[in-house]
Amino acid sequence: MGRGSLATGVNHLRGGSPLRQTRPASAGLVVSGSLPFRRVKLLVTGAAGFIGSTYVRLVGGEDEVRVLDKLTYAGRRENLPEGTELVVGAIEDPKVVREAMEGCDAVVNFAAESHVDRSIDDQDAFARTHVIGTGTLLDAARELGVGRYLQVSTDEVYGSIESGSFTETSPLDPSSPYSATKAAGDLLVSAHFHTYGIDASIVRGSNNYGPRQYPEKLIPLMVLNALHGDSLPVYGDGRQIRNWLFVEDFCRGIHTVLEKGKAGEAYNVGGPDECENIEVVKRVIELTDAEESLIEYVKDRPGHDRRYSLSSEKLKRDLGWQAEVHFAEGLERTVDWYRDNEEWWGPIRSGEYREYYEKQYGRALG
Ligand code: TYD
Repeated sequence: MGRGSLATGVNHLRGGSPLRQTRPASAGLVVSGSLPFRRVKLLVTGAAGFIGSTYVRLVGGEDEVRVLDKLTYAGRRENLPEGTELVVGAIEDPKVVREAMEGCDAVVNFAAESHVDRSIDDQDAFARTHVIGTGTLLDAARELGVGRYLQVSTDEVYGSIESGSFTETSPLDPSSPYSATKAAGDLLVSAHFHTYGIDASIVRGSNNYGPRQYPEKLIPLMVLNALHGDSLPVYGDGRQIRNWLFVEDFCRGIHTVLEKGKAGEAYNVGGPDECENIEVVKRVIELTDAEESLIEYVKDRPGHDRRYSLSSEKLKRDLGWQAEVHFAEGLERTVDWYRDNEEWWGPIRSGEYREYYEKQYGRALG
């Protein structure tokens, strides 16, 4: 895994048809005829986080990348490849945004407060980043004449679904402060497309997992707890279903939409497998040689969505993307990565996360 496989992914994805060649000149994301070989310059916001940093490793060899990141608890400088150009600041700060966006051909917005449990506790940062921040980026992109804008969003904007899968025409019906504010951000993107004609698209991913995910999320939390012999807190009956998407597959999907997606449209990027939470936890136990007795059923999350499921048919049919990593393989790779990278998670597990964990779960980490 790591850089090698990502680099291969880039070559495969781009296949000799980079951004500037695939979009018509009128779409704006084309480096002008006088500079036919200039590399595309991307502003990637929130790229010190889990998904954004994976994306930077995916495209960094081909495109010029500038990162804008607030470096909050989950945005970590060490997630970025050495030498990445980094502007530290918030997407809701118009001055910083304009400075960071100057000279860029496209914007990919990953900046988000991504944890549902934290949004239940305090929604303010979520509204600020997802709504004010997205609007600030869109205003700046228009004013600076940036050619293309891509909003990275989530399946959670559609809410929960008992059977079948959401398509891009399903109504938005979010149920947590996290997903409600993400939906508001998506609607702003559509509004800027309709009102100002900005060349913007949206990608909605299902539950991502993989290396460098902050351990407050289900999979890394369970992996690290299992490796430490800490209890494994399963919310409610553990029968909730998530549609698991390996982070590199999502990033390939994002780049495909950036290059070839239609303005004003959304594209779903769903994982190839669905799995009940309890099944995920049992697989983690197997892969870490932990004891099943570590499983502890705890109080359910308020308003807990039962099932997420996305159809990626549009992205497959129109743009030729397809997931490459099944859950069994991706989970094994993820567990191996956490086992081998204590220098990454060690400082996290002994810092802010420890306090968060105690507050959230009412017990200390071992
Ligand atoms: P999470 O990783 O927080 O993602 P999301 O809420 O965006 O789906 O949670 C995934 C699922 O795992 C979700 O159904 C909640 C559940 N869960 C637990 O059972 N225990 C935990 O400690 C955590 C963090 C999540």
